[in-house]
Amino acid sequence: MLQLQKVSYAYETERILSDLTTTFRERTVYSILGKSGCGKTTLLKLASGLLTPTNGHIMYDKQSLRHPDASFSYMFQNPNLLPWQTVLQNVCMPFVIRHRKDAMLEKRALHLLSQMGIGALAERYPDELSGGQRSRVALCRALMTNPRVLFLDEPFSALDVMTKEQLQDDLVALVQEREMTVIFITHDIEEAIIIADEIRVMEAGRFIYEEQNPLREQIVRRDTEQALSYKRLLRSVLEGAYA
Ligand SMILES: Nc1ncnc2c1ncn2[C@@H]1O[C@H](COP(=O)(O)OP(=O)(O)OP(=O)(O)O)[C@@H](O)[C@H]1O
Ligand SMILES: [Mg+2]
Repeated sequence: MLQLQKVSYAYETERILSDLTTTFRERTVYSILGKSGCGKTTLLKLASGLLTPTNGHIMYDKQSLRHPDASFSYMFQNPNLLPWQTVLQNVCMPFVIRHRKDAMLEKRALHLLSQMGIGALAERYPDELSGGQRSRVALCRALMTNPRVLFLDEPFSALDVMTKEQLQDDLVALVQEREMTVIFITHDIEEAIIIADEIRVMEAGRFIYEEQNPLREQIVRRDTEQALSYKRLLRSVLEGAYA
C-alpha cells in the first residue's frame, strides 16, 4: 500500500537514508526501533509525505506521494493541543481545518473521548489536564478522521511508566476495532512488542531487522518468559550484536 523505492534523503549535505526500499502493508501495525539519530523521524516524515525524498520514490496506492494524504493522521511526542480551545474543540480540529462540520462531529468526538476514558473532560482546556490526558486527547484527534494510516512518533515517551502502559493497551484496543495501518516509532522495546504486528530495527538509515512479532497472536503480558526473551533478542539487535 505504502512503498518506499530506493529512497535517499539528505539534510543539506548529511545523508540520513540511502537507497531504502521497503513496503508498509494494509491493516498492519509496525513498530520501528532504533538508536537516537538513526533516521526514524526522517523516515516517518518521508513516508507520510511531510518531506520529499532527495532521490527515489514514495508510492501510495501505486501513485507517487507528493504531500501528506487526507487519509493520514499523525501524533508526535508533544501532543500540540491548542491551549485556547477546549478538549472537544481540539479533537474536532481536523474538520475545522478542512471546513467540514456536521452535527455528528461532536457526537463522534465525545464517543472517542469516552472510549479513551476522558469523556468527562470535554469542556476542559489543555492546561487543566495531566500529561497522560493530553496524550489521550491528541490520540482522539488523530483518530477523528478515521485515518487509513496513522503515523506515531514516540507519542508516549514523555509519560510515566504506568500511564504509558495504559495508553499502549488502549491504543492496541482502538487499533483492533479499526482497519488501519499504524507506523509507530519508539525507543522502548517493550512498547514495540506490545503494539506491533511487525517489528523493524533501524540503524544508520536502513533496516537491520524486519520480522513478524512472534508474540502478536497472544494477549501479550509484559512479564512472560517469552516476552522477556524476545526483549533480550531485540536488545541485542539494537546493540548490533545480532548475527
Ligand atoms: N532539520 C534537520 N536539519 C539537519 N539535520 C537534521 C534535521 N533533522 C534531523 N537531522 C539529523 O538527521 C539525523 C536523523 O535524525 P532523525 O530525527 O531522523 O533521527 P531519529 O532516529 O528520529 O532520532 P531520535 O530517536 O533522537 O528522535 C540526525 O543526525 C539529525 O541530527
Ligand atoms: Mg525522532
